[in-house]
Amino acid sequence: MCGISGVVSFHPIDDRLYEGVHHLEYRGYDSCGVAFLENRHIEIRKDIGTVDEVDTKRNLRHLAAHVGIAHTRWATHGKVTRENAHPHTSCGCEFAVVHNGIIANYKELREELKKKGHKFGSETDTEIIAHLIEEHFVRCGDVERAWVGALRQLQGSFALAMISPHEPEHIFCARHESPLIIGVGAESNYVGSDFNAFIDYTKNTVILDDGEYGVVSKDSYSVKSLRSGDVIDKAVTVIPWDSELSRKGGYPHYMLKEIHEQPQAVRTALNIASDDIATVADMVMAAKRTYLLGVGTTYYVALYGQYILATLADLDVSSVSSDEFRYIDKTDASSLVLAVSQSGETYDTVMSLRHAKERGAKTAAVVNVVGSSIARMVDHVILQGSGPEVCVVSTKAALVQMLLLTRLALEIGVRRKVIKPAKHREYEAALTALPGEIETLLNEQSGIIRAAAYRHAHIQNWLFLGRGIYYPIALEAALKMKEVTYIHAEGMPGGFLKHGTLSLVDDKLYTLVMAPPPSCGELHAMTMSSVEEVKARGGFVFGFSYDEKDDIFSERVALAPTHELISPFLPLVGAQLLAYFTATALKRNVDKPRSLAKSVTVA
Ligand code: F6R
Repeated sequence: MCGISGVVSFHPIDDRLYEGVHHLEYRGYDSCGVAFLENRHIEIRKDIGTVDEVDTKRNLRHLAAHVGIAHTRWATHGKVTRENAHPHTSCGCEFAVVHNGIIANYKELREELKKKGHKFGSETDTEIIAHLIEEHFVRCGDVERAWVGALRQLQGSFALAMISPHEPEHIFCARHESPLIIGVGAESNYVGSDFNAFIDYTKNTVILDDGEYGVVSKDSYSVKSLRSGDVIDKAVTVIPWDSELSRKGGYPHYMLKEIHEQPQAVRTALNIASDDIATVADMVMAAKRTYLLGVGTTYYVALYGQYILATLADLDVSSVSSDEFRYIDKTDASSLVLAVSQSGETYDTVMSLRHAKERGAKTAAVVNVVGSSIARMVDHVILQGSGPEVCVVSTKAALVQMLLLTRLALEIGVRRKVIKPAKHREYEAALTALPGEIETLLNEQSGIIRAAAYRHAHIQNWLFLGRGIYYPIALEAALKMKEVTYIHAEGMPGGFLKHGTLSLVDDKLYTLVMAPPPSCGELHAMTMSSVEEVKARGGFVFGFSYDEKDDIFSERVALAPTHELISPFLPLVGAQLLAYFTATALKRNVDKPRSLAKSVTVA
């Protein structure tokens, strides 16, 4: 999960490579670098640090060259050092390569190349690719043939871009199990890990599929099959997003901007055609068994889906974390695998889908990124249309995915006659009210939540509790806190507490409880009993609660009364704000927290 950008142009590159990797920094940011052709020589500028830090040290801007590639890294093979930063070059510096993915057979290839006299300057798997191309080129004298020959020897996953003074007008690129696209511009063409690499310049993209490579020049491009060498006719996809949407728009961080975009993102998702939802409902109804897949936040979304389908549609589905799916996968032609993914590129989810497809299962997905691998590989995709989510931490995408699974559960509930028409109308009205209710919370409670976050930012350990459908919400809220503040936050069902974890309760551990509205009856009462349990042991309990009679909390954020159906969404937004403001109180790198990348495209 690194970011690749490339430009080949009639005009000087100037800042375009710098901007490209800058906009891709959410994919990784421990080091970065550029390679460009100057007087038929490859010039490399790279170092450790963020794109801006490397720019200050090495100057990545104002480039007069017309062909160049760039990379921002999230280390997988080899430490974070200047030597391991990309681009990597061959012995004679005639081929410069940037790479996203993992080359599974790099050790064997490296040994072979060493025997042939190649000298390596880094610990990376990527560097062997430059040497392999060189090895083939010495034999055939043709860059494209050398490129293809080298790629055919690689096992594992790769998105690659390469330049060479032997082909000074071209960028070579390729994709296998890691995303890579071509941007088709005016008097310039681009390559990128995704369209953020070039969205300021063109919205027209050509999406490479696995096993394809591209040869890109100033005014043309061609895509070919790596296996046969045949030219492949590719459609141009127009990205529907505006570059402005990817900017901060006055907010101090993307995370806060994206939290505030939720009302609009929900409105958009409510307008997604019912037919789209109905198609997935057909698939669920036809399947003997449905598996909901996601990982990290999207696993919690999947778990939410399991609860909402059980609640509204009386349907039993299994939610599984994508990274674990392979160990329990019993899918066959009667199964449906429904995946959830913001990026549509997450390795574990892609691989689980691929595996299930091989076993004959039907597949569907809820995805945010148009043209992504998952969006294209499944039998049916619901594109959530939430707009770019730039902050590494997912907020609006996850909330909208939960909403879409709620719509799916409603559709199936009606078909299974679990939901009567009058109840259905009531539910629809509740969903329509959700954007306004999120707006009210953002307007009225942000200040209160901010003050609480600053007051409690010194607390190092949190328990996040929820019961029923509030349990996945508590898990997701705890993940938000962990990833953006680096504070330990553990989510669990309220009922779990007394089976061990109560031992941790003291004045240094705080508990956050998501309380349902009192109309939820027993669920509300049981949740409040968890609050009592913690309080009885002297613990501090912070509550998101709808009922002013919930007066046993040590501190309570009062939520405006709402319909049960949408009641889990509001404490989720509250918890996103709590995590965000705690992170700002602690001066964390909010949009790019440590050890996290937006799109985990490696195993
Ligand atoms: C957390 C977060 C991650 C992602 C996970 C799956 O805030 O963003 O846990 O949810 O890496 O990514 P996608 O949704 O792109 O498949």
